[in-house]
Amino acid sequence: MTWREYHESTAHSVESLRRSPHVLDWVNMPDPFRHYEGVPVLDLPADPPSPETPALDVLQGFSGATPARDGPTFLSQLLFYCASISASKLAPSTGYRYALRVNPSSGNLHPTEFHFITRGLKEWPDGLYHYRPSSHMAEQRASGDLEMKLTGNSAPIVFILTSIAWREAWKYRDRAYRYCLHDIGHAWQALALAARAIGCDAFAFGQFPDDDVAHLCRFHEDEWPMLIVELRGGSIPMCEGAPVREPNRREIVWYGGQANQLSKENTVYKQIDEIHAATKLSSNRPASHISAIEPAPTGAGEAKLPSPASSTRPFGEVVRMRRSALDFLGGVQSMSLPQLSAILAAASQPLLADFAAARFIQLYVYAHRICGLEPGLYSLWPERAELEQIKSGDQRVAAAGLSLGQDLAGNACVAFSMIGDLDRATRAHGDRGYRYVHFEGGAIGHRLYLAAEALGLGATGIGAFYDEEVHRYLNLTAEQGRVVYHFAIGYPVPDYRLGA
Ligand SMILES: Cc1cc2nc3c(=O)[nH]c(=O)nc-3n(C[C@H](O)[C@H](O)[C@H](O)COP(=O)(O)O)c2cc1C
Repeated sequence: MTWREYHESTAHSVESLRRSPHVLDWVNMPDPFRHYEGVPVLDLPADPPSPETPALDVLQGFSGATPARDGPTFLSQLLFYCASISASKLAPSTGYRYALRVNPSSGNLHPTEFHFITRGLKEWPDGLYHYRPSSHMAEQRASGDLEMKLTGNSAPIVFILTSIAWREAWKYRDRAYRYCLHDIGHAWQALALAARAIGCDAFAFGQFPDDDVAHLCRFHEDEWPMLIVELRGGSIPMCEGAPVREPNRREIVWYGGQANQLSKENTVYKQIDEIHAATKLSSNRPASHISAIEPAPTGAGEAKLPSPASSTRPFGEVVRMRRSALDFLGGVQSMSLPQLSAILAAASQPLLADFAAARFIQLYVYAHRICGLEPGLYSLWPERAELEQIKSGDQRVAAAGLSLGQDLAGNACVAFSMIGDLDRATRAHGDRGYRYVHFEGGAIGHRLYLAAEALGLGATGIGAFYDEEVHRYLNLTAEQGRVVYHFAIGYPVPDYRLGA
């Protein structure tokens, strides 16, 4: 299966939804928490310090600082602000409360797992760990000097983000692979921005031999490595003398660790297995050369974006308060053009990854209620901070209709279509490029969430849309790009099911 076949066959249409309705098998719902059982579990100190740098500054690339002076506190702070539980919600029909996390996830199903390797941290043993969000602890899967040699470098902290596709496929079936990729994009930025907020840099690698990494980290077969993220920086508390290290200093000790079974049965989704196999790299099928990437097209528009609005809301508070809005207040209240400008500036910042030298996504903006901007459909030219008008007039019905009839895309102040240049990405990276465009979509989405929250607005990622209808509405040929993600920002309706 090629990426094109997968993408086309998982497109939503009125006909495809009518043809294959899906009833959720609640008894077989996968556990959202993976545990590697039987391994030492290391405590991450409770209530780590909250990063105080304004979230918008962090989104613009400014570094924060941390008072953490030892490995456990540093890791606790990092993970608390990128992957932990931050709220709960009541399911009124059952009276059951379920957890919500700092990073969003389609259907709150959380296919992404955070694993990390540490070397030379103060008061923290070198080894390979799996983060356990249910208790904010680290499962020690191996101790010793594991080095993620596959990226050709060595860093004191290296994260490996994995996907468990079954968690997502349980609800979204074959389309779920797209959402797993978006989720990785969100998790990547959650991690990279939390790292930035506490004074270190994160660089992501999408190009690595999948099976070698899975083998090195002894992942359960249902977990697929998707992204490697290296963290470096003076704020990481290191042992005296680190990172200088003696070769083969300590042997690696594996603690076994039995991965918990997530549900009684797994349904196989053949197309997911096939697209995953098609996008894999191996020592025999290495990555293509990055230098071959054609640059993103450039353009201009008649609406110049003003200086971005500012906000002093601290990063820690913004991250912990971020939620997906269930819907937005319609009516007349608008957001300002400087607010939109700040949100778009946050979304357009460089992404630090081996696949992100050229960007593959262009934002189309459905402007519903933005003071100072005529309602209409625009495309964003980020390098000039300009909006080019594509259509004029009320876009609320169109945005909601295209988003699978979800009202929130019409009740928001602004909605977005992210159009991915899948052809250009796969010309540069082969089928692997399919992953990168979706990672980029998730990464932009995460930045939109945090920027909206920093400005006192709410946001929601929208993975469900009528693909071909969007292309028709935007007048796009397949060569010009395909829709990969929708988004909405506005004033959220209160959600009475939310709790601490
Ligand atoms: C990739 C992705 C796709 C999503 N698609 C939709 C959607 O189509 N409709 C919707 O209402 N929410 C959507 N969401 C929001 C999730 O339902 C939400 O993140 C999840 O319930 C967890 O809530 P939280 O974001 O408040 O933590 C999506 C989120 C992500 C990350």
